[in-house]
Amino acid sequence: MKDKYVHLIYFSPTGTTRKIVDAIAEGLSAAQTNRHDLTYAFEKEQQDIAGGVAVIGIPVYAGRVPEDCLERIAGYQADGVPAVLVALYGNREFEDALVELRDVAIEQGFNVIAAGAFIGEHSYSTPKRPIAAGRPDVEDLRLAVKFGQDIAAKIERGDLETPEIEGHVPYRERVKFGGVSPQTDAEHCTLCGECARACPVRVVTVSDSVTTQAENCIMCCACVKICPVDARPFNHPRIEERRDLLVRNCSTPKTPRIFL
Ligand SMILES: Cc1cc2nc3c(=O)[nH]c(=O)nc-3n(C[C@H](O)[C@H](O)[C@H](O)COP(=O)(O)O)c2cc1C
Repeated sequence: MKDKYVHLIYFSPTGTTRKIVDAIAEGLSAAQTNRHDLTYAFEKEQQDIAGGVAVIGIPVYAGRVPEDCLERIAGYQADGVPAVLVALYGNREFEDALVELRDVAIEQGFNVIAAGAFIGEHSYSTPKRPIAAGRPDVEDLRLAVKFGQDIAAKIERGDLETPEIEGHVPYRERVKFGGVSPQTDAEHCTLCGECARACPVRVVTVSDSVTTQAENCIMCCACVKICPVDARPFNHPRIEERRDLLVRNCSTPKTPRIFL
């Protein structure tokens, strides 16, 4: 694909989706990369994607595409541009996220030619309660690069068919997030503002203290993972319970699934 553009379109609050999207782009080895980081795409604008191939990546939230991703992807219009879809999940399940992403991509005019479900460290993972910690690892990234190479070969062959993708329509019911959020440990917080800058939905404000508008928090944990002094724990009892369940039931490492 040396003569083509690759458009990287992704939402990635804790950076694991981005790692896989980048590795797939490496495998595609296009001449030019256009990056559209939707994580901080606050202003709504309409953009046309033309030529080349697009890689669209989202994290899986409760087996679905997060609502903020849907809204931000809806800002893109493509006239039949081939698209590769990525659902990044925290070693539980990806359920209906990929078929939902397929339907959204088609709605926006993309031609879906490949999809993959990859594993990333779970947003709720902590050093003491690890869930898929360190993923994507070297092997995940190798598989993602190989996936990119295989997609490039598929395009070279002129095969632009949409593969069968695992998942159900109608999609599983959407879970409402928010109401609880990470909290600031005022004793250790240095008011550096990293948490506010990392928040993809702008619910954190830093002045002489840190306030979080919990009702609109999407629980992505970007603020938790970016805090340089570990002063943003997410230890609400509801999250502790969920974390326990994930540690108990989702510790066996899963392998990426490819639909090509
Ligand atoms: C609110 C929420 C819901 C999640 N739901 C799921 C899920 O249904 N299945 C799963 O395996 N992981 C789930 N995860 C974990 C994320 O998919 C995973 O941490 C992903 O790597 C985050 O991507 P990012 O690093 O690009 O932000 C969830 C995470 C959050 C914050």
